[in-house]
Amino acid sequence: METMADRDDETRGLLDVTLTLNGETTSVAVDPAERLLDVLRYRLGLPGTKEGCGEGECGACTVYLDGLPVMSCLVPAYQVRGRRVETVESLTPAEVANLHASGATQCGACTPGVAMTARWVARHPELLEQHTVRQLMAGNLCRCTGYDGIVEGVEADLAAAAKTKARGARS
Ligand code: FES
Ligand code: FES
Repeated sequence: METMADRDDETRGLLDVTLTLNGETTSVAVDPAERLLDVLRYRLGLPGTKEGCGEGECGACTVYLDGLPVMSCLVPAYQVRGRRVETVESLTPAEVANLHASGATQCGACTPGVAMTARWVARHPELLEQHTVRQLMAGNLCRCTGYDGIVEGVEADLAAAAKTKARGARS
């Protein structure tokens, strides 16, 4: 049933979008031209996702859309209606500990995007059958680390995930 709020949004030209955001059902009114990146940061109070290039080139704005990493600066917000979005705020400190320990988090501009892609790689070790860690992380640009720390952090995550899996198989 249409509510007063829906009618107000229509008057202002906004679209109502309901999505699952970091595991919670969330509704937000968005402008048809608004990017997911801006809706997350400025309408939904999740500033962890960063803007670098704004053109799909740097990966700083990486979030998961239905479980896959996407550049949120390229996604029109209305397109996430009924879908699942996860941001860097969904990661636990333990999930980024290896990146910190390997020196992959220096100025921090790239870190949220790097952390999201790194976690995705760690959750999908089968990707390593066809790609190197460096290739899988190539969509996240970093001007500080020379990438060695990032690769090292992801490899530590993969090693930890393999150890947990082996322990589970033995028990
Ligand atoms: S800000 Fe989205 S890819 Fe650079
Ligand atoms: S840590 Fe500075 S851009 Fe990556």
